[in-house]
Amino acid sequence: MTMTNTEVRILPSKDEVARQGAEEFLGAADEAIDANGAFSVALAGGSTPLGMYKLLAADPYVSRIPWERVLFFWGDERCVPPDHPDSNYGAAWDAFLSKLPLPGGNVHRMRGEIDPEAAAREYELLLDHHISGEPPRIDLILLGMGDDGHTASLFPHTAALDANERLVAPNYVPKLDSWRITFTETLLNEAHRVIFLVTGEGKAQALRAVLEGEPDSDTYPSQLVRPRNGHLLFLLDEPAASLLSNK
Ligand code: 6PG
Repeated sequence: MTMTNTEVRILPSKDEVARQGAEEFLGAADEAIDANGAFSVALAGGSTPLGMYKLLAADPYVSRIPWERVLFFWGDERCVPPDHPDSNYGAAWDAFLSKLPLPGGNVHRMRGEIDPEAAAREYELLLDHHISGEPPRIDLILLGMGDDGHTASLFPHTAALDANERLVAPNYVPKLDSWRITFTETLLNEAHRVIFLVTGEGKAQALRAVLEGEPDSDTYPSQLVRPRNGHLLFLLDEPAASLLSNK
């Protein structure tokens, strides 16, 4: 029997989304480290989580987390080198990880600079090595959502939506004419906790479709994210939640 515990939290501002995201990160880290001595977290790309990352790299959060026990992963990556302006790893490194007292061996980026299939396969092996569970059960996965309802690099009507025999898959995105590497539904839904951070009026239509629309995950891939035995939290600001009926 599977059970997803879902919570939708509507907050007054993007800053409050970032602050509550940081609080949730702290709570998840405390819980995992108390239970297992380590905390595995997969970071989201895009711009929304950057405010949360910056909070975590400063007081009061930076001094409340034993960073040497935190293992960092990414839920997706663009197929670019780590120093490319589009790199999710690069953005998180600049905003967050470079400011932490963190052993270098705790940061595990997807290698966007190599062949996408090889990078995906390499990352599956890396996750199997570092994280227990079959499939690996990541303690916390952070996700954003695009205005088309995509999450990670699971874009509407793309091949990776069906790659459920994989944990990590290469994905060609026609509308961007670019390759990505992404967690699949199988890996996402094995997580202990998943937190979506979604802000801005531009996301309102897709969010209504994802949360209240007819099941159509090929069009709105964020609908796929329902941890089989875990917690799903949506941290939303009021503009993003403005079209939801049961606010
Ligand atoms: C990426 C992200 C992607 C992102 C959404 C939202 O690699 O771009 O993984 O899924 O979370 O596109 O992006 P914003 O937060 O910038 O709106």
